[in-house]
Amino acid sequence: MVAVTAQAPAKVNLLLQVGPVRPDGYHDLVTVFQAVSLHEEVTVTPAREWGVSVEPADGTDVSGVPLDSSNLALRAARLLAERAGVDEPVHVHVRKGVPVAGGMAGGSADAAAALVACDALWQLRSGLDGLAELGAELGSDVPFGLHGRTAVGTGRGEQLVPVLTTASFAWVFVLGSAGLSTPAVFAECDRLRALDGRADALGDGRLEAVELALRGGDPEELGAALSNDLAEAACSLAPELVATLAAGREAGALAGVVSGSGPTVALLAGSVPAARRLARELAPVVGAGRVRTATGPVPGARVLEPLV
Ligand code: C5P
Repeated sequence: MVAVTAQAPAKVNLLLQVGPVRPDGYHDLVTVFQAVSLHEEVTVTPAREWGVSVEPADGTDVSGVPLDSSNLALRAARLLAERAGVDEPVHVHVRKGVPVAGGMAGGSADAAAALVACDALWQLRSGLDGLAELGAELGSDVPFGLHGRTAVGTGRGEQLVPVLTTASFAWVFVLGSAGLSTPAVFAECDRLRALDGRADALGDGRLEAVELALRGGDPEELGAALSNDLAEAACSLAPELVATLAAGREAGALAGVVSGSGPTVALLAGSVPAARRLARELAPVVGAGRVRTATGPVPGARVLEPLV
């Protein structure tokens, strides 16, 4: 086999409840992930040396992506090789369709796709659980990039249980004008909480409301149940988000929420045509290059069969 290409999806958090900081520096979470149809594509090709390159898809700004050994797709390939005892370097090429540092787990999707592609190239048959275990070492969102669909995440987000959904949902994403660092947003959340002595609210019924809405499949009900404990911190670090959320509501979104640690804003529409209308309304307000439409849920990382 000469090269293998795999794709992995972006995610949006329908719910993101943040608990207290743990001794290891992570926060306990209760989250609901949904995989959406913005994808990263990773091609691995046998090479003399390990290497990585990146290419934008759909005008994604890739200037913030590292091209050294810290690149998550390259780290994923090397970790799998090390654990499986494979001594066959690959060149990893990433085609990015997910905003960089956008709160949509683009880097994690790169790692998920790289794991699946290398597993196929080296014919390891590690299985989804085996790859997810390795993925959790690379980042909290990597296991979800492998599993896809809709899932409740606990722990630091890496422990997953699938959620029953009966419908497809239509999303419009508005990209931030600059990326936000995930650790910085978690730290700002802690700072804001310490300032006003707020308690962390895990287990307050919000999860059940999201699960009920997903079972029912009604986008209005899901819109009413969306919430993100990191939103305030993200808005504090990137105040333009407040205006973007307001613009989304103004343009007819059922609801809007900061995606993960931001700065992407996720807007829920009632249908695919409604999402297209919403995107058309928003383009002149925020800039056409910052608007993407997508649907969810979609499957997790998978090998793309070559065209023959
Ligand atoms: O796991 P990942 O590398 O994606 O996490 C990036 C950073 O985000 C962590 O170093 C930590 O600062 C923060 N984080 C957290 N709690 C989580 C997930 C991430 O504090 N559950």
